[in-house]
Amino acid sequence: MARAAEDAGADAIVMGNTVLGMAIDVRTRQPKLGNVMGGLSGPAIKPIALRLVHQCYRAVRIPIIGCGGIQNAEDAVEFMLAGAAAVQVGTASFRDPGVMQKIIDGLQDYCQETGTEALRDLVGQVRLDQHLSDRWLRFAQQSG
Ligand SMILES: Cc1cc2nc3c(=O)[nH]c(=O)nc-3n(C[C@H](O)[C@H](O)[C@H](O)COP(=O)(O)O)c2cc1C
Repeated sequence: MARAAEDAGADAIVMGNTVLGMAIDVRTRQPKLGNVMGGLSGPAIKPIALRLVHQCYRAVRIPIIGCGGIQNAEDAVEFMLAGAAAVQVGTASFRDPGVMQKIIDGLQDYCQETGTEALRDLVGQVRLDQHLSDRWLRFAQQSG
């Protein structure tokens, strides 16, 4: 899908969105959500969104905006290391409307502590050299 968007002329991609979920009231046996299913957001979906960003970064050249469960600076750095050029924060700002400033401050602290000159130096820098999945990915890419 990311490649299709890039091929069609997209300037950037927001990856990802909510994941469809469901809840049932065990006494009434009715779905708890009026629409039966609904979008699950927040920390529960972060590993899924992070994996999607990681895969997209290897599939396209346009910038990726990472999104899904980010609630602090460490989460934002994780998404950047996976390949996000920027991040988006939704659910966490409902719980704490000041969370964006905290994340920005936390990113500055992270850069100082780790000697990172610019956030763009983090983009896609997850280290995969010793991981089987990366070797498998390269093998799969070479084999077409
Ligand atoms: C209340 C609410 C409304 C949303 N509305 C939209 C929407 O209209 N269009 C859209 O693409 N995503 C929408 N989303 C999804 C968010 O843009 C985001 O992808 C998702 O919530 C995951 O990020 P988060 O965990 O930081 O919230 C909505 C999310 C929430 C919680």
